[in-house]
Amino acid sequence: MPELRVGERRWSVAPGSNLLDALNRNGESVPYSCRAGSCHACLVQCLKGLPSDSRPDALSPEQRQQGWRLACQCEVVEDLQVHTFDPLQDGRPAEVSAVDWLSANVLRLRLVPQRPLRYSAGQHLVLWAGHVARPYSLASLPQEDRFLEFHLDCRQPGAFSDAARRLQIGDSIRLGELRGGALHYDLDWHARPLWLMAAGTGLGPLFGILREALQQDHQGAIRVIHLAHDANEHYLAKPLQAMAASRSNLNVEFWTPAELPTTLAQLRLVSRQTQALLCGAPESVDAFARRLYLAGLPRNQSLADVFLPRG
Ligand SMILES: Cc1cc2nc3c(=O)[nH]c(=O)nc-3n(C[C@H](O)[C@H](O)[C@H](O)COP(=O)(O)OP(=O)(O)OC[C@H]3O[C@@H](n4cnc5c(N)ncnc54)[C@H](O)[C@@H]3O)c2cc1C
Ligand code: FES
Repeated sequence: MPELRVGERRWSVAPGSNLLDALNRNGESVPYSCRAGSCHACLVQCLKGLPSDSRPDALSPEQRQQGWRLACQCEVVEDLQVHTFDPLQDGRPAEVSAVDWLSANVLRLRLVPQRPLRYSAGQHLVLWAGHVARPYSLASLPQEDRFLEFHLDCRQPGAFSDAARRLQIGDSIRLGELRGGALHYDLDWHARPLWLMAAGTGLGPLFGILREALQQDHQGAIRVIHLAHDANEHYLAKPLQAMAASRSNLNVEFWTPAELPTTLAQLRLVSRQTQALLCGAPESVDAFARRLYLAGLPRNQSLADVFLPRG
């Protein structure tokens, strides 16, 4: 049986064991969230030996060369010595610069990293509050904002959301791996209709992308749709309406679940050149994607980031 070693601790595991489970069942506290290779909360560094990896494409060649692997995607096939991601040593320090409620349930967190972070609108990273790590998407725009902004859905209790409620200006947080999902703005879309369809805090990264599109003077029609639990949870209604008032090609719509079946059924494509970006909870993103496909949008023109809850 292969042997797993972390620091001075070593133990045997059944061949083919999932690396994340093998570590956590034996007292290591490796964080995880999606268990699907997308959030990078479960990064570990292999110091000796290598696991079998079902998602080698998920990390950069440099990271892989340094031995970093996503534990949730790996199986133990030989003796392995592992260093688990230590937020104090491996994470990037950042300070809370603002913490505000945008609605009863959405907390806006602004962080200033100790060293500047190069990122694009729509990317996400893992936030560490103490030893709790969860993926969150950037809602800020690197060209304009000196802080990193995140919109946290705190409607339900959760280890991170509970910690986030207690955060105060000046508190310290660690940032994990920066990760690009599907969401981004592409200058090639400049003249095409752009649809940004968000559910809940899925609006955060799409708000960053909207600001980028406007900054790039996007010429096609832009349609922003925000689906929220109720009318009070359209937490960016005011800034979105103000932007729409000053841009003739921008239209914003606010949807709630009660009207979703009708509004979705009425969704029609004006052009097959439309580019759609979808973000939020899995069931809402699925509903958006299905309707767009039925309306005739080619699948490769609909890009989605799904806020998978902790699996
Ligand atoms: C790539 C990516 C980007 C994301 N970006 C964002 C973002 O920008 N904004 C955002 O709000 N979210 C985002 N998410 C989702 C967020 O990371 C998850 O919802 C995360 O699990 C929240 O952490 P938590 O500690 O608050 O809740 P967790 O403790 O992880 O719990 C997750 C959910 O399960 C429920 N739960 C926990 N324990 C139990 C239990 N015993 N029984 C029943 N229910 C339980 C909680 O109430 C909570 O709703 C993103 C997810 C991914 C994968
Ligand atoms: S990538 Fe492993 S838990 Fe998300």
